[in-house]
Amino acid sequence: MGIADGKRALIVGVANDKSLAWSIAQELRAQGAEIALTYQGEVLEKRVRPLAESIGALVVGELDVTNDIQIGLTMAELRELWGGLDMLVHAVAFADREDLRDRFLTVSRGNFAKALEISAYSLVALARAAEPLMEARGGGAILTLSYLGAVRAVPNYNVMGVAKAALEACVRYLSVDLGAKNIRVNALSAGPARTLSSSAIHDFHSMQHDHFFESLSSGETEMRDVFCFAAPLWLLGRLAELAVLHRYMQALLQERNAVIRQIAESWEWQRYLPPAAQRE
Ligand SMILES: NC(=O)c1ccc[n+]([C@@H]2O[C@H](COP(=O)([O-])OP(=O)(O)OC[C@H]3O[C@@H](n4cnc5c(N)ncnc54)[C@H](O)[C@@H]3O)[C@@H](O)[C@H]2O)c1
Repeated sequence: MGIADGKRALIVGVANDKSLAWSIAQELRAQGAEIALTYQGEVLEKRVRPLAESIGALVVGELDVTNDIQIGLTMAELRELWGGLDMLVHAVAFADREDLRDRFLTVSRGNFAKALEISAYSLVALARAAEPLMEARGGGAILTLSYLGAVRAVPNYNVMGVAKAALEACVRYLSVDLGAKNIRVNALSAGPARTLSSSAIHDFHSMQHDHFFESLSSGETEMRDVFCFAAPLWLLGRLAELAVLHRYMQALLQERNAVIRQIAESWEWQRYLPPAAQRE
């Protein structure tokens, strides 16, 4: 029996077979979940459809997270198909390539707003739309992907670091709003992995090696205290290590809140949670 048997998961953010969302989709599928994928635009549809087919996942349709109509249509489609939703994976981020190099302070007002809208606000918009579907299933789990650059200045990560900081704050506030409905909200802080998005970051190669492993060996491991899962995946460097991912998925999906307990102070504040949600 898989840890996700009978669960229904919407995964937003598969672009190709290198996407972290694709690793998560494969793992959840292997653990028994039914999967629905979306794609951002026609170009990516050509990549997403064959991937979906390979694991027997549904493709719900096009979803640009800046488009509230598409968000609404996606959720309406899922309500029709499944009647509800157990899990939402948000693996979406965007910043202009020109802002992922050199100086942070050159970012324009427009590019700053765009990066935050797509990379952080989109979690709020999707969570709000998913809430009634998760309520219909008695609760659910929302997972987003963050990065160390949220809490530390990482060279070239720049505006995306600011967006990830906002994203992590969104996780805390959403967990307060949704915790009472037995909907958990978490962030996985993944290590650097070579994907379509990360290829936009100038000198990404050095993030993968020098920065991470040097900072690790110099003992800068306080990240572990800050957000959920940070250190283990950080050490491993990539979500594609499915055996490890499995453990985190297990924590996320099982009816206990180990994951939440690690992520946010806000969990501590949620003393009004129903007993089932407070269980270890
Ligand atoms: N690759 C890494 O090193 C790394 C490390 C930590 C966290 N992350 C995070 O993981 C998540 C997934 O990124 P990835 O590295 O797998 O790259 P990816 O390029 O495979 O995935 C990014 C996804 O964001 C989607 N996206 C961008 N703008 C969108 C929009 N307006 N509407 C809908 N979708 C949109 C893209 O279509 C793509 O599917 C991101 O949040 C990223 O910041 C990545």
